[in-house]
Amino acid sequence: MTQATVLTGITTTGSPHLGNYVGAIKPAIIASKDANVRPFYFLADYHALIKCQQPELVRQSSLEIAATWLALGLDTNNAVFYRQSDVPEIMELTWLLTCVTAKGLMNRAHAYKGAIAANEVGNDIDKGINMGLFSYPILMAADILMFNANKVPVGKDQIQHIEMARDIASRFNHIYGKHFVLPEAVVADNAATLLGLDGRKMSKSYNNTIPLFAPEKKLRKLINKIKTNSLLPDEAKDPTNCTLFSTYQAFAKPDELEAIRQAYADGIAWGEMKKILFTEINQQVAPARERYEELLNNPDHIEAELQAGAVKARAISAEFIAKLRAAVGIARL
Ligand code: TRP
Repeated sequence: MTQATVLTGITTTGSPHLGNYVGAIKPAIIASKDANVRPFYFLADYHALIKCQQPELVRQSSLEIAATWLALGLDTNNAVFYRQSDVPEIMELTWLLTCVTAKGLMNRAHAYKGAIAANEVGNDIDKGINMGLFSYPILMAADILMFNANKVPVGKDQIQHIEMARDIASRFNHIYGKHFVLPEAVVADNAATLLGLDGRKMSKSYNNTIPLFAPEKKLRKLINKIKTNSLLPDEAKDPTNCTLFSTYQAFAKPDELEAIRQAYADGIAWGEMKKILFTEINQQVAPARERYEELLNNPDHIEAELQAGAVKARAISAEFIAKLRAAVGIARL
């Protein structure tokens, strides 16, 4: 069986939260140990610059995200784990792709359309929109096409970008010959979408997240903050549309879940359920949290892992970009 190349990037703004863990990081780490998969996971630090112009935040986020993946047991023998900015061929490919991308295609990108729609009330439709935001899908296409990824695990909001990568790849192939594989998006199922403290989807933009490696005390405090209805102890409770239950579901084993379903019918108190949820999550994240803290104190080790990943990535990208340059007519005379 031929291996599938699976590639995904994590923008280095902010710290990972429980929703990222359940929906993206955990399945990716499991895949990193699968011999049928050739995983490429990277820190999308150039993407971060589009929305964050605070250098210290970008750097700190890169450190925390890299530490998170390593602490959770990413298999860096099988997976190629690297920082986008350490693979300069990606930027070079971005330009080759920019020159075959229709401006009209970029006009249709949701992120850009959303930004201009928000400006409709004023008199400058492009207010606050930089070219990074506008061309963002091309950089993302370069990330993916550089390694000819077959599958790209992403959130629903990113599906359009993968379709654009396919369009751009087809255009390049049509003009210059078949160099790129057309990638497919892989979207996590709904069960893998965690809800946040306020019951909406857990997301940085709603400010309702629980940091994955919040210290124990803080984790308990945040779980206690999760919104519930006002049913009293001993009143039967409905597990559907219950943030506590759906969060528990993402962590518990099937038999544990059945026991809790029964406890809901029997009228478990919300305070009690929160304790159970805390214990379950804490037990699962505690060992990794300890490794995470050790890693944060040892950035040299993280840096060495990233450098080793960059060497593996560049062995591929340097050879490929040479072919692509020749294909477009950028060559020695
Ligand atoms: N844009 C993605 C996000 O915000 C991150 C990302 C950058 C990415 N490059 C990628 C994801 C390439 C998949 C493949 O979530």
